[in-house]
Amino acid sequence: MTDKALPVLEARAVAKHYGALAAVDGIDLKVMPGQTIGIGGPNGAGKTTFFDLISGFIPVTKGEVLFMGEPIKGLPAHHLARAGLVRTFQVTSGFTSLTVWQNMMASVIFGARDTKPGLLFNRGNRARVETTLEAFGLSDLASARVEDIPALARKKLMVATAIVHEPKVLLLDEPVSGLMPSEVDEFISLMHEIRARGTTLVFIEHVMRFLTSVADRALIMHQGKLIYDGPPSGIGRDETVRSVYLGGAAYGLETETGHG
Ligand SMILES: Nc1ncnc2c1ncn2[C@@H]1O[C@H](COP(=O)(O)OP(=O)(O)OP(=O)(O)O)[C@@H](O)[C@H]1O
Ligand SMILES: [Mg+2]
Repeated sequence: MTDKALPVLEARAVAKHYGALAAVDGIDLKVMPGQTIGIGGPNGAGKTTFFDLISGFIPVTKGEVLFMGEPIKGLPAHHLARAGLVRTFQVTSGFTSLTVWQNMMASVIFGARDTKPGLLFNRGNRARVETTLEAFGLSDLASARVEDIPALARKKLMVATAIVHEPKVLLLDEPVSGLMPSEVDEFISLMHEIRARGTTLVFIEHVMRFLTSVADRALIMHQGKLIYDGPPSGIGRDETVRSVYLGGAAYGLETETGHG
C-alpha cells in the first residue's frame, strides 16, 4: 500500500451530543486524497455540526478525527488550518468594510506559518493573492469594499481566501446557497478548476444539481447519521433518501432545480 492510499481525513464513529440530542450520531468516513465529496441532507440533519467536528471547531462527544493520519484532538482550528485543513462557513463571512484585496491579504497573513513582520507583505504573498483573484474572476473587484460587491463575488471571495493557502483539504459549507441558477453554473466551473488542481474537497450543499455535477462521491445525512454513501447519480433512486425527502421533487432529486 502506498501513502496515496491513506485517508487524508478520517472520522471514526464520530458523535456530538447536545443534551439528549445526537446532532451527529456515529459517523465513519474516510476522505481519500483528491476526492470530491458532496454532503446533502435535510435541514437539521447534522451536516454543519459534522464539519465543525472534522475541522476541529468543536470537540467530539465520542469517536475520533484524524488528519493526515494524526488525531486532531485538542488542536485548535487555526492550527489545523495552517497544517492544511481549511474550511468556509454557511453564512458568508469576511471583513465587509475592507476591500477584496485586504481580505485576501488578511487571510494570507493569518494563515502564514512564518509570522515575522516584514515578511508578510512580501512579493510572494502579493503574487499568490493576485493569481488567486485572477483565477476566481475577482481581479476587477480587488479595490472594492466587500459590503459593495454582489453575493456571487462574496461567495467566491470566501472560497478564494481559503484556497490561497493551497489547503490539503478544503471544506465548504453550502458554497452556492442563495445564488441564482446561472451563478450556480459559474460556481460549478470554478469547482471543476479547483478539483483539477488536485485539492481534496468536501462540501455541504442542498442544491442537488451542484452536488451531482461537482462531487464524485455523495453522502446524505439524516438525524445525525449517514443514510447514503455512493455515486451522486444514485441519490435520486435510493429508497431511503427518497423517503427522507418526501418524494424528492422539491429538493431537486428529480428536477433540475435545487432547494436553497
Ligand atoms: N450549539 C448547539 N446547541 C444545541 N443544539 C445544536 C447546536 N448546534 C446545532 N444544534 C442542533 O443540532 C442539529 C444539527 O444542526 P446542524 O446545524 O448541524 O444541521 P445542518 O444539517 O447543517 O442543517 P442546515 O441544512 O439547516 O444547515 C439541529 O437539530 C440543531 O438545532
Ligand atoms: Mg448547516
